[in-house]
Amino acid sequence: MRKARALAAVLALFMCAAAAAAAAAPLLPKDWSKWTRTTDVLLNYRIPGHENHYRIPFINDIGAKVTTTSRDGRTVWEYPKGTIILKEAYQGLAAPAPGEKPISVYGMVKDPKNPKARGGWVWVVQDMATKKESIFESPMCIDCHSYANAPHPYGDKNPKGDNRDFVFFPFVKK
Ligand code: HEC
Repeated sequence: MRKARALAAVLALFMCAAAAAAAAAPLLPKDWSKWTRTTDVLLNYRIPGHENHYRIPFINDIGAKVTTTSRDGRTVWEYPKGTIILKEAYQGLAAPAPGEKPISVYGMVKDPKNPKARGGWVWVVQDMATKKESIFESPMCIDCHSYANAPHPYGDKNPKGDNRDFVFFPFVKK
């Protein structure tokens, strides 16, 4: 009996450790050098939300399978679960020197069933110095990104107000 209880305690401990490990698993990958850029536009101007940082956005292979449908005259973009759009942000607005590393990385991770998701995306920022990831459950990221689904001043400006799944520079297959 005592043995069984001890075993149960060990098992419980083990399960806690597994849960903690799962919770701490990073959302963003270590290496995205083989990913595709979502735009060739030079993002070397200040914007609210991402401020005075030169920015380079990438998308993973799952995200490149984005589908579009037509609904009520608007094009509706839908990124599959597992899509990651990741945006490097550099120290200043100048183009990064060869080998220069970004200071932070912004991520949109498509995972609609995740309780931390907002609008189907988990919004995350990784500090490159500490590798610490912060998930934004507050409306901060999504409130501004909802403007991507209406005409806006960036990229092709979304003149028809297509529903772009909160993405300002949608991935277009070449
Ligand atoms: C006040 C507006 C604003 C806020 C707040 C904001 N963003 Fe953005 N974000 C933009 C704009 C505009 C772009 C277009 C690309 C660029 O110029 O950098 C963008 C681009 C991105 C991209 C590349 C995909 C795309 O939309 O083209 C990611 C990823 C991203 N933001 C993540 C985040 C995260 C995570 C947060 C919250 C911590 C956040 N953003 C907060 C305005 C904002």
